[in-house]
Amino acid sequence: MKSNLMQGESLGLKTLPRHIAIIMDGNGRWAKKRLMNRVRGHEQGSDTVRAIVTASREIGIKILTLYAFSTENWARPESEVKALMGLLKKFILAEREDLQKNNIRLNVIGQKHRLPLDVCQELDATLELTQNNEEMILSLALSYGSREELTMAMQKIAVKIASKGLSPDDITEDLVTAHLYTSGMPDPDLIIRTGGEYRLSNFLLWQAAYSEIYITETLWPDFTRDEFIEILKNFQNRERRFGKVSCNTSNGG
Ligand code: IPE
Ligand code: IPE
Ligand code: MG
Repeated sequence: MKSNLMQGESLGLKTLPRHIAIIMDGNGRWAKKRLMNRVRGHEQGSDTVRAIVTASREIGIKILTLYAFSTENWARPESEVKALMGLLKKFILAEREDLQKNNIRLNVIGQKHRLPLDVCQELDATLELTQNNEEMILSLALSYGSREELTMAMQKIAVKIASKGLSPDDITEDLVTAHLYTSGMPDPDLIIRTGGEYRLSNFLLWQAAYSEIYITETLWPDFTRDEFIEILKNFQNRERRFGKVSCNTSNGG
């Protein structure tokens, strides 16, 4: 595996998560603590995004999904939504070249059509430019909500049943999975939430069935590469059982 880790960052030989998903929370509180406007927190948060994308690529993570904007976030004040969309556009424009240079493929999960037209156009241009890149997938969850995703999947499957091509017996877990925004991707091995809240906030509810979860109190703008690496070490020391019995447990016979 290609690795550009700095001294002291060694992650050893244990398995790394293939797919990491992050709920990037705490921008508003970061700003509030400094008596600043929430938008300043989001600006600072986009610097963290850059740092963690770089770290993930260097560590050799194959898929990084970032929860950037939820379907519920549309209900925030118009000025904040506008600022977030502006920052998103700025981020895409600033990172496009680096994504391409670093062989990173951009992906979007969520209701892309609900985003402002100019943001959508910049996203589409970057999605197209980077579509054949193979080093890592950077998947942005934008206007993403798991319930919307599952509802949409059910509608699509219902249409296939109504048009007689599909029978109810054909509905399998794999078929549902194939109708989600994340179709074709492995489930996240690790979900990190910054900002200390113990909830999923409508993120990857189906896909998180067996994800390991790590919650840190650190607010997203304060999150660092060092803490990220410590979380990966913590992940490496967990035992994923997937409902089975431990490999290390004696069964008494
Ligand atoms: C996360 O930070 C960013 C988005 C949800 C867009 P918040 O804006 O939710 O920050 P807090 O949770 O209010 O601190
Ligand atoms: C989750 O954070 C959504 C994103 C990080 C984009 P929120 O701040 O919207 O979630 P709640 O409101 O604390 O559940
Ligand atoms: Mg929040």
